[in-house]
Amino acid sequence: MKTAFEKKPVEEVDADYLVVPCIKGRLPEWVAEILKECGAQKDFSGAPGESLMLPLPKKKYSRLLLIGMGEEKKLKSEGFRSAGGKAFSRVSKGGCCRCALWINEQMEQDYEGAVGAFVEGFVLRSLKLDVYKTKKEETDEEENGNGEVGELVVVGDEDVSRRVREATVLAESQNYVRRLDLEPSNVMTPSRMADEALLLGKKYDMDCRVYSRGELEKKGMGGIIAVGKGSSKEPVFVRMEYNGGKKLPHIALVGKAITFDSGGISLKPGKGMAAMKYDKSGALVLMGVMRALAELKVPVRATLFFGAAENMPDGNSTNPGDIIKAYNGKTIEVLNTDAEGRLCLADAVSYAASKEPELIVDVATLTGAANIVLGRHGICMMSTDDSASELFERCGEETYERVWPLPLWDEYTKMIKSDIADVKNLGSENGEAGTITAGMFIKEFTGGLPWVHLDIASVDLVESPNAYLPKGPSARGVRLITSFVRSWVQKK
Ligand code: BES
Ligand code: MN
Ligand code: ZN
Repeated sequence: MKTAFEKKPVEEVDADYLVVPCIKGRLPEWVAEILKECGAQKDFSGAPGESLMLPLPKKKYSRLLLIGMGEEKKLKSEGFRSAGGKAFSRVSKGGCCRCALWINEQMEQDYEGAVGAFVEGFVLRSLKLDVYKTKKEETDEEENGNGEVGELVVVGDEDVSRRVREATVLAESQNYVRRLDLEPSNVMTPSRMADEALLLGKKYDMDCRVYSRGELEKKGMGGIIAVGKGSSKEPVFVRMEYNGGKKLPHIALVGKAITFDSGGISLKPGKGMAAMKYDKSGALVLMGVMRALAELKVPVRATLFFGAAENMPDGNSTNPGDIIKAYNGKTIEVLNTDAEGRLCLADAVSYAASKEPELIVDVATLTGAANIVLGRHGICMMSTDDSASELFERCGEETYERVWPLPLWDEYTKMIKSDIADVKNLGSENGEAGTITAGMFIKEFTGGLPWVHLDIASVDLVESPNAYLPKGPSARGVRLITSFVRSWVQKK
């Protein structure tokens, strides 16, 4: 979607719709006047959840949409993100080529932040995920319009064009990931994951290389091979590099990319198994981050690594009890073939570490237990670098992709010691501290470098929709990690 900023007073807005988020008890004078003219003072106070559409045939904009934001002291940027989503739903119903947004610059809240969040919500809500419907279904978004909006224009006095562009890039990068994540495992195979990475690399002039199964064997990437062995679709390893200039701080991003996780020989129960097509979200989220870094020309060197594989049971698959060797030479006893993500990450993280980046960040739908820890409301984080984890917490609040830290006590490392190999891929048979022991397993492969681990298993799927994210893949993490990388290079 096109987004833009136009410096002009609100009276001069020329659009199909003008959207105005309003704080309770602080309606702008001109809004109060219009309400009075229409005799609608009682219909709108600015309370949260309230909205009012007024047809105004005499104005240059034919409809005014007021959105209640609640009280000023309770106002957060997330409220504006929700308002953006809500606004999109409302105006796309009526057929809208050009939608204008005006936010009162005089409020106490950070004005630019409010504009950015609104634009994010609006663009996120605009993504349609009905690509596999052969007949267009009438949705509640298509009363008179086609469920689309041509353009969103922010109008006001303060020039926020940069912020509008940034918010658009972030939301579009998130949408790019949501779109790819939706693809099922018969389409998004490991080799197709590699093709998408190559395509992205080409578009943004990023160096991208794909390593075949044969090359993985030569490199000694026993984890990715062990996971992919049971599938007829061959595993691959991908490296992609974005370099924003010379001699910049180097961050390694490592993603989990299981195109389908059946559990392997330790087969999962049938219920809910279809959702395991989303087990590639970690790597996709990082592809979205790479896209955003390139679009925004962030001065950083970022390298993305992922091993893509399909985890299937077969006469040739890895069996519980098998012992394998990861890229860094450590031996792993595979006690449960369903703990496959950490096997792939073992190779990819130790490979990333061999390039000696200043920080490694891995992102994975690693454990169902992440959902037990935080519910669907946050990302489980583990880190060996306090300044990085503090920055993640801050960026989490700002983007509302919140993270919460878990401990890295020695006792958890003891839980993954194997009797016969260096480590085992299962902390305890009954799942005790499942999210933490999975993180501690990854830590074994970081070579002692500063490291942040994000287990996104709890947030990668939207089950109860909010105003800007409907049911389906969320691609949460794109805005969080992009915002982290931008602040991280500033501090370097
Ligand atoms: N991909 C799953 C984790 C997952 C579960 C993500 C549910 C999203 C929703 C992962 O590979 C897995 O199967 N983990 C096991 C680990 C266990 C065998 C130690 C789990 O969480 O049950
Ligand atoms: Mn699994
Ligand atoms: Zn998995």
